[in-house]
Amino acid sequence: MTDNTINPANHNRLGTGYIKLQKPVVLVGLMGAGKSTIGRRLASEIGVEFIDSDNEIAEAAECSIADIFEIYGESIFRDLEKRVLLRLLSGEPIVLATGGGAFMNAEIREAISKQAISIWLRADIDVLVERVSRRNTRPLLEQGDKRVILTKLMNDRSPIYNQADLVVDSGMGAHETVVAEIIELLRAQS
Ligand code: S3P
Repeated sequence: MTDNTINPANHNRLGTGYIKLQKPVVLVGLMGAGKSTIGRRLASEIGVEFIDSDNEIAEAAECSIADIFEIYGESIFRDLEKRVLLRLLSGEPIVLATGGGAFMNAEIREAISKQAISIWLRADIDVLVERVSRRNTRPLLEQGDKRVILTKLMNDRSPIYNQADLVVDSGMGAHETVVAEIIELLRAQS
């Protein structure tokens, strides 16, 4: 098993103290919340691997997420998502960014709650809309007005995201601030 103790020479540039992760850290939240960008940065700060579950799914299926939705449908995507996440959760303590719908699945949620530390990256609707407008790779947002769809998803999903262990606001400010806040919270937990 890898020793995830931070190497002071290479990590912890934010100066928030060392953490030794005992479990995976799982980022949940809506599309555009910054799960991948913040997750990658967080993993590099604490010296563990970063994995984006959508990338893992696309690699396993040898097909983009948009194509999986288009060719096989959302329910096949959700099955793949569950398989990939349950596998990743039982591995090394990594930082794991999930797709926005993953935490809605009760089985995935239960596994995350037992095997990981979950963080809801919460962002307001203007931030989400601005961020998702940069790409058209998210099939759920290609079915109509992005703001309308995201607002509905926010209303439906927020009570579930709120079951995460920690909640951190991810606004338009520097990602570094969000990462520092997460590190502080993780340190308080460890
Ligand atoms: C989805 C979010 C996407 C991706 C898929 C479905 C969702 O991931 O998993 O398009 O249901 O919210 P991101 O949240 O990383 O964009």
